[in-house]
Amino acid sequence: MKVKTELLHGVTSLRDVKLLVEPSIVIKGGTAALICSRDMQGAPLYSVKWYRGNHEFFRYTPMEEPDTRVFGLPGIYVDMNRSNGTQVLLRRLELGLSGNFSCEVTADAPSFATQITTKFIDVIGKKIEL
Ligand SMILES: *[C@@H]1O[C@H](CO)[C@@H](O)[C@H](O)[C@H]1NC(C)=O
Ligand SMILES: *[C@@H]1O[C@H](CO)[C@@H](O)[C@H](O)[C@H]1NC(C)=O
Ligand SMILES: *[C@@H]1O[C@H](CO)[C@@H](O)[C@H](O)[C@H]1NC(C)=O
Repeated sequence: MKVKTELLHGVTSLRDVKLLVEPSIVIKGGTAALICSRDMQGAPLYSVKWYRGNHEFFRYTPMEEPDTRVFGLPGIYVDMNRSNGTQVLLRRLELGLSGNFSCEVTADAPSFATQITTKFIDVIGKKIEL
């Protein structure tokens, strides 16, 4: 019984992975921060990956040098100076970029637990000032 409880605990060690977009209304040509929060429950972090659809565009791996990596995706401009293991700052957002964005967090050994969360980001046109 004890073993089972410990196993269960290991499986659920990583939780509450959330993707927050700031500002909440993303305007064409503007910038947006995609913030990936999580509760590691004390587990060491292995990686955080950001995706648009199924395509990864940014990765943070604290044990690698350099610890951040950008994968070129058309229309995605990552500001490396303001991106890290917690957030990615995207610049010059275009309408066509509207879609599902995900953030995937993986814990290091021994659990290697992974959790991914997805959010639809709608890039809207600028309002016409009358
Ligand atoms: C990032 O920082 C470097 C060094 O401070 C600077 O030269 C570069 O212009 C910055 N890039 C952006 C996109 O702000
Ligand atoms: C990540 O970058 C943001 C923006 O530059 C900064 O506010 C935040 O403190 C940084 N977080 C970490 C963990 O370095
Ligand atoms: C975004 O994800 C939702 C839920 O999985 C799906 O129904 C929708 O078709 C996706 N939208 C796009 C543009 O891929």
